[in-house]
Amino acid sequence: MEILELKEEAINSINSVNSLVELNNARTKYLSKKGLVSSLMANMRNLSIEEKKTYGAQVNELKNTIEALIKEKEEYLNDLKVKEQLEKEAIDVTMPSYSFNEGTMHPLSMVIKELEDIFLGLGYEVATGPELECDEYCFEKLNLPKGHPARDMQDTFYLDAEMLLRSQTSPVQVREMLKEKGKPIAIICPGKTYRRDQDDATHSHQFMQCEGLVLGKDITLADLKGALLVMAKNILGEDKKIRLRPSYFPFTEPSVEVDVSCVKCGGKGCSMCKNSGWIEILGAGMVNNNVLRMCGYDPEEIQGFAFGVGIERITMLKYGIEDIRNFYMNDLRFLKQFKEAK
Ligand code: DAH
Repeated sequence: MEILELKEEAINSINSVNSLVELNNARTKYLSKKGLVSSLMANMRNLSIEEKKTYGAQVNELKNTIEALIKEKEEYLNDLKVKEQLEKEAIDVTMPSYSFNEGTMHPLSMVIKELEDIFLGLGYEVATGPELECDEYCFEKLNLPKGHPARDMQDTFYLDAEMLLRSQTSPVQVREMLKEKGKPIAIICPGKTYRRDQDDATHSHQFMQCEGLVLGKDITLADLKGALLVMAKNILGEDKKIRLRPSYFPFTEPSVEVDVSCVKCGGKGCSMCKNSGWIEILGAGMVNNNVLRMCGYDPEEIQGFAFGVGIERITMLKYGIEDIRNFYMNDLRFLKQFKEAK
């Protein structure tokens, strides 16, 4: 094929190319080792030296022209591709948005967060323990040997003779003491607990507690009262008062039940507090010496207090919720009333 003829053909075909694939085919057709431009070179064999010079220069010029054309086209096609991509991905800011439901924090999670903030502020740490617990930690090391009548206070789900679903968060005390081996402790432990209760407005077979344990030199009942007053005021309101009444728990001696001034009448007496002005919120006491000893602590050296508060109970008092089952029904009309406390 003549040089000029080939040039014209190449220009036409490269101009009509519409994609990078086609352009690559054209590149192979004209510029590869076995391509049309190379085959023109083969004609050189039959030419004189003078002719070779001009012919060679012409073929070179043809090669440069085709290369330049292909490069130009390649840039054009690449630009086009970017432009198309940008157009495709363009965001139309005038388009109406679609609405979605914003979730709210569960009221129990909100109160747990508040408890953690309060006690972290007092220098406590947050501890955890398993919901599937052994009898030894849930009862025996808490001064409740097998057959102890006080076991009846908590009707427990047993998996076998040794394993159970924890009926209280108190076994976390045992775990912490065994871990700390005689050293001072200040922890709270919020978590799930289980009891074989018939569900009704005030009972749930699965509920939550928050345990507290402080051990150290010269810790007294006054420290317990101080910590619980801070908690009650923070969660239920600055105007709240607390009082301690003697009670019984196997893991504390002395044991107390703690009341808060009535959230409804403020202490004057109403139907909610049965005219007493007080509402019971938790159990507590000084950790029993037997418990300290069984968990590796010397009561002569270190003593302290523990408490266990029902999280549903204080959340119900805080928000005036009358049925514990509301927490677990997942009715959005109930849940949406709670916005995260800031
Ligand atoms: N575990 C007790 C319960 O579930 C509550 C409790 C009472 C916890 C006294 C304590 C405590 O740590 O000292 O009824």
